[in-house]
Amino acid sequence: MIEILTELAALRARVSQWRREGLRIAFVPTMGNLHDGHFSLVKLAKTHADRVVASVFVNPTQFGPNEDFARYPRTPEADARGLEAAGCDAVWLPSVETMYPYGVDATVRVQVPGVTTTLEGAHRPGHFDGVATVVSRLFNQVQPDVAVFGRKDYQQLAVIRYMVRDLAFPIEIVGADIVREGNGLAMSSRNQYLTDDERAHASRIRQCLLGMAAALRSGQPRAEIEQQAAERLRADGFDPDYAAVRRPDLTEPDEGERGPQVVLIAARLGRTRLIDNFEFET
Ligand code: PAJ
Repeated sequence: MIEILTELAALRARVSQWRREGLRIAFVPTMGNLHDGHFSLVKLAKTHADRVVASVFVNPTQFGPNEDFARYPRTPEADARGLEAAGCDAVWLPSVETMYPYGVDATVRVQVPGVTTTLEGAHRPGHFDGVATVVSRLFNQVQPDVAVFGRKDYQQLAVIRYMVRDLAFPIEIVGADIVREGNGLAMSSRNQYLTDDERAHASRIRQCLLGMAAALRSGQPRAEIEQQAAERLRADGFDPDYAAVRRPDLTEPDEGERGPQVVLIAARLGRTRLIDNFEFET
């Protein structure tokens, strides 16, 4: 049976007991409304540790004032059942008061420089401060040996790696591959907002990413690829925030640069904001 923990003292007692038994502990942070993408993280976590703790917490500090915090889907019972089936040992369900004892406006904030200023950071001001702030707390609460994050949120993973190194968290960070629907759409809790037609149409984001990678490989200039991809998305009924070619650290590659690269897209379809990316070598 999966153990559901809602009090910090109970979480600490459970983790301390596992530590005394010499067990290695993995952690998977989530905001709930879990799908196979999340469950794949739990399964990967299992291969890195003896026990897996997942957290479900819809973090108010990472949502902008006009974003979907209030309507973000909350499905705690289904989440617990799915986590158990995926082999998770415990789920940490903190309240907002437990996470932010001084209140969300009076919290100690963790601000990661550099990588947070571009792409998602530029379009969602303060988002990564909220992510770094909550993940640092979750790390202190759970104190895992290893934590698993999805490559779907590519920039988030980069922010977490930066934070862990800079603040010397003794935690190994593992990146997990993107899990997709049959049509190529990256799984996301926000896909719930899509109509059936939109869901079918949303797979074009993946096709656009693959097209960008192929164009870069064939030597087309980066600025042209980015512009054409945004135009194509607009013509396809999306409202893109960006379509970008970057180095793995999210800095801009030189023209004609060879090596590992990543293409990233954020675009709205109707009222749903979707993100996806594709990593490749040139
Ligand atoms: P959430 O969006 O719930 O995602 C939790 C984790 O699942 C993240 O590491 C995310 O990258 C991963 N994930 C989501 N969809 C995925 C998919 N299709 N394939 C692979 N991995 C996927 O990301 C957050 O929550 C929050 O920002 C959080 C880190 C929990 C901090 O609040």
